[in-house]
Amino acid sequence: MPGDAVRIVEVGPRDGLQNIKDVVPTATKIELINRLAQTGLRTIEATSFVSPKWVPQLSDAKTVIESMKLSVARGDISFPVLVPNTKGLEAALALDVKEIGIFLSATEGFSRNNINCSVEDSLVRAQAVIERARERNVRVRGYLSCVVDCPYDGRTSPIVVLRMAKKMLELGCFEISLGDTTGTATPQDIRRLLEVLLREIPASRLAGHFHDSYGQAIANVKEAYRLGIRAFDSSVGGLGGCPYSPGAKGNVATEDIVHSFESMGIDTGVNLTKLAKVGDWICQQLRVPNGSQVGSALVAA
Ligand code: HMG
Ligand code: MG
Repeated sequence: MPGDAVRIVEVGPRDGLQNIKDVVPTATKIELINRLAQTGLRTIEATSFVSPKWVPQLSDAKTVIESMKLSVARGDISFPVLVPNTKGLEAALALDVKEIGIFLSATEGFSRNNINCSVEDSLVRAQAVIERARERNVRVRGYLSCVVDCPYDGRTSPIVVLRMAKKMLELGCFEISLGDTTGTATPQDIRRLLEVLLREIPASRLAGHFHDSYGQAIANVKEAYRLGIRAFDSSVGGLGGCPYSPGAKGNVATEDIVHSFESMGIDTGVNLTKLAKVGDWICQQLRVPNGSQVGSALVAA
């Protein structure tokens, strides 16, 4: 069993903001990243270099990264970005980004709807992106969506997820983040999935990325932790969702997983009081309800 400590990947500025209907001012995005950087979080996914026609909400990715360089206290924090293809990668490389996330789907329906290609073609694209990134010493994290359920194809077999995760690792991803994109998974689904994956993939190469549509995300995080997973993606204020996963709600709230782990005596390195204030602030800016139970309770106290 690996050690106890967990690594949290804050995805609020990317997953959180890609699905907000109103245009979020670039200055608010930068302010969010800056405030998050002062809470003890060590990895903050900043934005996506995707097609502005597909995700107009993040069409200011270049400005966000350029402004962050000037205004965000960086310390030893890593600020990965998502890229879907070599065009996005080149834009990120031009800004000296040190880590990227590529995103593929275990299912055909989501792959075609989200990145406009088949699963097979997505692996070919991924190979080109990873080879070029590695030439430039850029680390590549792999997201694998729809590991339990797909909005287009229904339930996903764990064997299909295993095959894809292994291919992505072979191509050179340092870690695979397992996406419950629809937020419909239960702890039992997570156990069934991980029992298959962990036969062939070490827990240290996997992360959990659980959306919370059915209110099961924190239970799913705990189940994955029990089975040895030590890296989790989460979003401040529980923001998030994918424009191509209709009805899916936000990620598990960072405040909620920090509280949960700390109450188990597991250090996350994050200052919960500061984080709760950031969650409250960004939800007010976006005029959305605070999706973190813990965050709401703390700011009301
Ligand atoms: P396409 O339309 O097939 O691409 O989209 P294309 O190569 O034909 O290009 C179409 C236009 O987009 C062209 O512009 C390109 O230049 C431009 P035009 O000539 O028409 O003016 N273009 C780009 N512009 C900027 N940056 C780029 C880029 N690429 C092309 N990188 C594509 C294919 C993959 C580009 C598109 O489908 C896309 O951008 N998809 C991204 C969708 C997305 O961001 N979804 C949310 C993130 S994934 C997620 O949330 C799940 C996750 O959280 C895990 C989980 O929860 O499961 C990670
Ligand atoms: Mg997501």
